[in-house]
Amino acid sequence: MKFFIDTADLGEIRDLAATGLVDGVTTNPSLVAKTGRKFLDVVKEICAVVAGPVSAEVTATDHATMLKEGRKLAKLAKNVTVKVPLTPDGLKTCRALATEGTMVNVTLCFSAAQAILAAKAGASFISPFVGRLDDVASDGMALIRDICLIYRQYPTFKTEVLVASIRHPMHVVEAARVGAHVSTMPPNVLKQMYNHPLTDKGLAAFLADWQKTGQSILDA
Ligand code: G3P
Repeated sequence: MKFFIDTADLGEIRDLAATGLVDGVTTNPSLVAKTGRKFLDVVKEICAVVAGPVSAEVTATDHATMLKEGRKLAKLAKNVTVKVPLTPDGLKTCRALATEGTMVNVTLCFSAAQAILAAKAGASFISPFVGRLDDVASDGMALIRDICLIYRQYPTFKTEVLVASIRHPMHVVEAARVGAHVSTMPPNVLKQMYNHPLTDKGLAAFLADWQKTGQSILDA
């Protein structure tokens, strides 16, 4: 499974990139707004830190302008993935950009029907928002299972399932169980994945027993 980090915060991205576990980054207009910085500068800096796909979202809603914005974003770096919303104009733009060889991430997906349209439009990634479905008492992971099952029926579909709007580590685990290609997660969720109290307890016990031996590996 590929791990993408869902943030535009360069400090968080640099810290987590150093773990060697980060395969890409996703941003969206809200995450960029939180930085208070110029969008294009942020995208260029992220692309210089993480070699994998970096999603940068268009902000127009009409095809002609989306296409202009997408082409401008794609020129920023070779690993830019242009993000478009799952609308008729968004998918028209997806098809045009994909035909030009630009990676496209189709976002704001909330149904299997939408995911089928995105695959037919040549999307590189589809972003179903599991957390926002859970937030409205709808089963977000059921959508992920549905999309993975449907995509597996059609080898010609090259679109990767990029599970988004992740709220906790179990979203990542359940997405991995059904073979989703990518999880994009807030920095805190990746950090939470390391944690287990029995690991902490076991390590403390090992170190306490080792301490009693009075030995040191490096001094041996
Ligand atoms: O960036 C796309 C998606 O991951 C945002 O999810 O629900 O946390 O805003 P959310």
